[in-house]
Amino acid sequence: MIAPDPEVPKLIYSPMKYSGSLDHLSYIDVTPIIGREYTHAKISDILSASNSSTQLRDLAVIISERGVVFFREDQRDLSVEELKRFTDEVGRLSGRPSENGLHVHPLFRDPGNVRMGNGEVDENIYVINSEAAKKLYKTMPGRTTSQPKDLPREWHSDATFEECPSDFSCLLMEETPPAGGDTLWCSGYEIYDRISPPMREFLDGLTATCAQPVFKSAATAGNYEIMSPRGSPLNVGDKFAPSHPVVRTNRQTGWKSIFAGVGLHVTRINGLYDYEEKMIRDYIMRLITVNHDCIARMHWTKGAAAIWNNSCVWHAATPDTHLVPGAVRTGIRASSIGEKPYLDPASTSRREALGITN
Ligand SMILES: [Fe+2]
Repeated sequence: MIAPDPEVPKLIYSPMKYSGSLDHLSYIDVTPIIGREYTHAKISDILSASNSSTQLRDLAVIISERGVVFFREDQRDLSVEELKRFTDEVGRLSGRPSENGLHVHPLFRDPGNVRMGNGEVDENIYVINSEAAKKLYKTMPGRTTSQPKDLPREWHSDATFEECPSDFSCLLMEETPPAGGDTLWCSGYEIYDRISPPMREFLDGLTATCAQPVFKSAATAGNYEIMSPRGSPLNVGDKFAPSHPVVRTNRQTGWKSIFAGVGLHVTRINGLYDYEEKMIRDYIMRLITVNHDCIARMHWTKGAAAIWNNSCVWHAATPDTHLVPGAVRTGIRASSIGEKPYLDPASTSRREALGITN
């Protein structure tokens, strides 16, 4: 027996290993770097399989390694409860803190809260609706039509405004325009790998404040209470201003990813002067725009679904539905709440872990 090398640092979470239970499903990898599309798989079949837990656990590994998984087949046979169970189980079986569950949207009590297609509301379901979002977030600063669209602002990771953000989000698209309405996902693993070692070391030491005051302003304007707790005993109250690491370790793979450096919910890189923190955020955004091979793009079809790991990808919707006369874009999303983000000093980049040199 070989004794473990005491010099090799151990990861806080042991990386998960794929066991092969999904090998019967046909797929294509969207790009060499990010994304996998299952061409015919049904989520309902995975949920009802005799080895369902094994398949869901394996799916968590694949999502965490590939960043995002698309289910192209129509998934509208899935009930709301099944969508919730699917998302919850992927998070639970991949080792999130046992006290956590599905996210509860802070503005669930808003009278303008959009109903699902079946006419109901559910505190664990966020309804994506191209029209309703304009009303719900009308108190958000900068929401004017007099300026050109600020599309880089769309990049985000779900629920980064919480102490414990989302690990997995699953979106089932019910109605989608014939053209446009696409969603993009960008690999935070690969963006980290495109950065020089001295710059990585600098970014490894940074944290960012992710303040989202729109929830409090919307609740005050609407005279209702913000939902609390929200999927974790740590996600309580109305402050919505956690500090997160700019570089994060993905707990399922043990790989490093750029996390809180860019996008909608990041308001401040901590400890830097104003011009420095703007420079860092612009730099990370530039990495996304100049490395478009790190991006997978989904053109939605009715009933298609996507599930992604928020700790290693950002995503951005494309707000062009209004350009197609009469078109609407509606979907339902459930999000599992993961651990408080951390940077494990024993973790490495994806390319380092896999020995990829090209
Ligand atoms: Fe999102």
